[in-house]
Amino acid sequence: MTSRPFPGFGLGLRKEHYEAVLAQQPALGWFEILTENYLVDGGKPLHYLDRIRADYPLAMHGVSLSIGGTDPLNREYLARLKALIARVEPLWVSDHLCWTGVDGLNLHDLLPLPYTEEALGHVVARVGQVQDFLGRRILLENVSSYLSYPESAMPEWEFLAQVAERADCLILLDINNIYVSARNHGFDPDAYLAAIPPERVWQFHLAGHTDLGEVVIDTHDHPVRREVWNLFARAAARFGPVATMIERDDHIPPLETLLQELDQARRIAEPLWTHEAA
Ligand SMILES: [Fe+2]
Repeated sequence: MTSRPFPGFGLGLRKEHYEAVLAQQPALGWFEILTENYLVDGGKPLHYLDRIRADYPLAMHGVSLSIGGTDPLNREYLARLKALIARVEPLWVSDHLCWTGVDGLNLHDLLPLPYTEEALGHVVARVGQVQDFLGRRILLENVSSYLSYPESAMPEWEFLAQVAERADCLILLDINNIYVSARNHGFDPDAYLAAIPPERVWQFHLAGHTDLGEVVIDTHDHPVRREVWNLFARAAARFGPVATMIERDDHIPPLETLLQELDQARRIAEPLWTHEAA
């Protein structure tokens, strides 16, 4: 298996920061772009994309694959995705382990799957189709969830690990999503980490959430919370050097604020990784 690349620490690229990134050239290893923002034929987003790509490696992160859905894979979307991959030459390409709609209706939500053998076979076959079409492996991200299905026959972590092994794909591990789902469903987040094969994990997401007590919501509009930093420290120790970034999708602060928040990730992980990354 290709060994895992380690471009270091990055941020999700947001349009609010385009000009600041170009002007300041922050010392970052990479940016993650939201694929769907650039599936256009021209205009401002592609203009900035090309300029920022000249200075930084980029990872592509999509939300429309619906790898767990029952509708046929969207060939038009895949063709556009492949064209963008050719333009960006990304570090890697990711989407979510979820379904987003049925009968052509996009629910614009990343919905969890029932964790059954049947669903596993279905997802594995579709990942195979996508990887064959793109000519590369993809990363799948664990989503946060607020509901579960009585049909589920295995825990989420076993399902994710099995998808990765059987389909020979890679994993984007969202540490905040593990924390959020662990709280909502009452499972042990460390059992989740322990079940994931380290060599498959190529990227971490960190993000903020909203804690309502009874329920925890993956809002991406706050700084990363202490509990998630603690879980990140344990993930960093288990998985070794994994490309790490912060996702902020709402209440987007100045670039400088996110860079400072990212320094917290460095402070936690770098002492654990120096002997391995050196
Ligand atoms: Fe995420």
